[in-house]
Amino acid sequence: MATAATAVVCLAAVAQGFVLPSSSISTPATTRESSSSSRAGGRSSSIPALQAGVLSKLDFKPAVDVYAKFPDPPSTTAAAATTAMPHDELTLLTTTPAPPAIIMSMDGPPPNNVDPFQLVKKDLAPFSDSIKELVETENPVLTAAAKHFFEKRHGKRFRPTIAMLMSRAVVAGGAADLEMGGASAIPVPVADSLRYQRQGQLAQITEMIHVASLIHDDVLDEADTRRGDTSVHKLYSNKVAVLAGDYLLARASVLLARLENVQVVEIMANALDALVQGEIMQAKSSSKDLLDLGHYLRKSYYKTASLICNACCSAALLGGYAYGSPTVVAAEKYGYHLGLAYQVIDDVLDFTGSADVLGKPAMADLSLGLATAPVLYAAEEKKELKPLIKRRFKEKGDVETTYKLVLGTDGVDRSYQLALFHAQRAVDSIASFPPSEAKDGLIKLAHMVLTRKS
Ligand code: FPP
Ligand code: MG
Repeated sequence: MATAATAVVCLAAVAQGFVLPSSSISTPATTRESSSSSRAGGRSSSIPALQAGVLSKLDFKPAVDVYAKFPDPPSTTAAAATTAMPHDELTLLTTTPAPPAIIMSMDGPPPNNVDPFQLVKKDLAPFSDSIKELVETENPVLTAAAKHFFEKRHGKRFRPTIAMLMSRAVVAGGAADLEMGGASAIPVPVADSLRYQRQGQLAQITEMIHVASLIHDDVLDEADTRRGDTSVHKLYSNKVAVLAGDYLLARASVLLARLENVQVVEIMANALDALVQGEIMQAKSSSKDLLDLGHYLRKSYYKTASLICNACCSAALLGGYAYGSPTVVAAEKYGYHLGLAYQVIDDVLDFTGSADVLGKPAMADLSLGLATAPVLYAAEEKKELKPLIKRRFKEKGDVETTYKLVLGTDGVDRSYQLALFHAQRAVDSIASFPPSEAKDGLIKLAHMVLTRKS
């Protein structure tokens, strides 16, 4: 943890230390300022400090502080989920009315036939391949440990796929920004442009950060398996695993600096910061927090959604859009909601999935003392769960009792509704993007998140 924090500080220092020509730092679009003063008042206020080269604390407003609106209470149909929810304070400005919303559903057919992973597989291949070279060190053990998840089991490549799809979708989605005069530049719609290469690199960086965090997470959680394979610390040792995670982070930092975009460096550094904060929140919650759904969602943002959300935001920035422009806000909002939906489903699967399918032990959260959405909803119905949550299921039989009690309530169903709420918001946030395969891919991903079994 301390080492991860050190890497965050290094990245922050990179972000703060660079004095760029003022022309390379775009001011927030006026459209954004008028539509969302709270959002624009977040990160943008750190930009003058960057220009002056002043070393000050980053003034970054996490998306969770801007977009957090939780369903209350969760509704039972997808259609109701879209209409019954409170409006965000942020309304995207578009010149043309948004096309009819796509209604997300867990039971219905997929929204389209696009395979999001296939769509960007070729684009991601050179970056995935080069990770192995990138993490080559003079120490064979460290190299093998750092490469482990890139060589054997690749995982779903969920995060780089989102980043790449968003990179493509914003190319098509720029029209609204341009009409509003909010974009800083016209995106170049060619796959081999420098912009597109940098977006690919961003996808790679996102995956490296994610894998580093998982290697560290398995040390903290003492998890023996990951992605159906032995975890790195089990294969080698805790020391090697911590160093391998650090090393991946270090390499990711170098790649990030090479993007030559100080705003992206700052935003991705904040994603790292959030990962560490999420872990701290998880480890150090008060017993009041342990019972609080808002705390759980905030922690889920830090642990999971922030990396996705900030990668999406960065993809749009690298696409040439100004910070605060409707396209960047839409991208960020998509990532925020999709990330939350992803984590809620992850927590449901921990209850309902089998270890074989998940590639990691099921029921791990309760054993780790974590009360996630299914338990928190169940505790509203079965008050006897509350003392068990507060003592982090430490006493003999607590895990089994909780499991049985939760399955006797609508805790799992309500959690699905919560995930559905966020998946719907993710899809709604990119509704104003013009039609494109990439947009369909992002919509399909939201459906896949809801219906995934592992
Ligand atoms: C998985 O959570 C863990 C994370 C999403 C983030 C872990 C972050 C850290 C360890 C902080 C250090 C960060 C870096 C960048 C090195 P989980 O345990 O709920 O999920 P799991 O079941 O997949 O293990
Ligand atoms: Mg874990």
